[in-house]
Amino acid sequence: MAQDPNAAAQAIHAKAPGFHPHVALVLGTGIGALAEAIEDPTIIDYGDLSGFPRSAVEGHAGRLVLGKLSGVPVACMQGRVHLYEGHPAADLALPIRALRLAGCETLVLTNAAGSLNAEFLPGSLMMLSDHINMTGANPLIGANDERFGPRFPDMTMAYDRGLRRRFADAATALGITLHEGVYLALLGPNFETPAEIRAFRTLGADAVGMSTVPECLVARHCGMRVAAISTLTNLAAGMTDEELSHEQSLTVGAEAAKDLGRLLPAFLASLSPDTGG
Ligand code: HPA
Repeated sequence: MAQDPNAAAQAIHAKAPGFHPHVALVLGTGIGALAEAIEDPTIIDYGDLSGFPRSAVEGHAGRLVLGKLSGVPVACMQGRVHLYEGHPAADLALPIRALRLAGCETLVLTNAAGSLNAEFLPGSLMMLSDHINMTGANPLIGANDERFGPRFPDMTMAYDRGLRRRFADAATALGITLHEGVYLALLGPNFETPAEIRAFRTLGADAVGMSTVPECLVARHCGMRVAAISTLTNLAAGMTDEELSHEQSLTVGAEAAKDLGRLLPAFLASLSPDTGG
């Protein structure tokens, strides 16, 4: 029997009485430091949130940070687990559902990804317009929990058009290049072969990574609006002579995260009026 996200949602309210987050943020590889900008933070270790799985991957702290960013109440997951760590896909549902129960109606996902598009250079940011799920997994399999959403959720608008426009406008105002493209998710943990990358390009992918899609599926199932941004840390396998490494994802990702650190608060500021934040 899967754990109930209500317990974690209640623990969030108990740790921060009277605080109601509107936007959930998931900070991916090399991006965790963005949580430091949150004002007046309440920090909850995942160990204190029943059912929040903890990542063993470097760059994923395992803490939920509550507080305001640009005046908007946010709940920020500093670190996420990945399917390749061996967690059943269904385990990735609980944190997102707990944040939904805690009050979040919007989810902003971030990740590090490889670029398949020669014009989307390492160090730049890509906003997801859509995704292709090639993980072979899905967090929604098993008995459908009707409290959260329907058996067959629609994914026509996986990434909300209005949120994308706000991100694009914020990027333009700040002079930050924000590409837009299709993210293809894989199980990992190995990086891809050059033949796979050539195949994925013909499928229409602009970036490839090992996260984000499971959380997006859970969030859309329970009616949250979703936006997602990739820090492009490398050109994908075979596009250069370089070998790929996690260290590169961390260092180049940290560079791109500086732009994301400016973009995210500007995006949130644009939400303030309609969230009442
Ligand atoms: N492939 C998959 N995941 C990644 C990559 C990549 O090239 N770079 C960062 N995360």
